[in-house]
Amino acid sequence: MKVLGILGSPRREGNTEILLDEALRGASDHGGLCEKIILRDLKITPCLEIYKCAEDGVCAIQDEMQGLFPKIIQAERLILASPIFFYSVPALAKAMIDRCQSLWAKKYILKLPVSPIAERRGVFISVAATRGKKLFDGVRLTVQYFFDAIDVAYSDELFVRGADEKGEVRDQPEALKAAYDLGQRLVTDKED
Ligand SMILES: Cc1cc2nc3c(=O)[nH]c(=O)nc-3n(C[C@H](O)[C@H](O)[C@H](O)COP(=O)(O)O)c2cc1C
Repeated sequence: MKVLGILGSPRREGNTEILLDEALRGASDHGGLCEKIILRDLKITPCLEIYKCAEDGVCAIQDEMQGLFPKIIQAERLILASPIFFYSVPALAKAMIDRCQSLWAKKYILKLPVSPIAERRGVFISVAATRGKKLFDGVRLTVQYFFDAIDVAYSDELFVRGADEKGEVRDQPEALKAAYDLGQRLVTDKED
């Protein structure tokens, strides 16, 4: 089962990547064929609202997002991992999400299938420094809507509070275990 993990944090080996790696390890240990995408290594232009995608479902901007589209389309399972920046996702993750407007257009304007794979599922991992009750409310909506656009069922989430310094999430072993278990469930559980 193909599992695509997308790192939405600009910080390498930070809290988000640690959690993502645990989730990918959980998936891989249970049969997942995992690939990790580091968004900060890709040049992804923000959506420019050209709207050629409304005619053919294909994004007109020729940059490294073109290499990511097929991976998103072919993934059977998806893990998006992102820290909270100002109650949202970092700009590089948002650029990737916005570029998937082309897949939204394919699905909702052109009424074409986004992916040849049926019953795709995805999970969202997020981490933030503070502990507010509504900390993840905004990003949950963003990612749920993103997953819907790319035809991936939003099946699970892991939100970790109180991790700020690089690698500080390692002080929360229960969060690391939760990430591992999330990855395991992603490749073993049937959809509800
Ligand atoms: C630009 C920026 C904005 C941030 N905004 C928030 C925020 O709104 N709420 C919060 O709790 N933490 C915020 N943080 C803290 C990060 O979410 C936190 O440090 C997280 O652990 C970073 O994950 P990383 O190590 O994967 O980069 C912000 C950090 C940065 C750099």
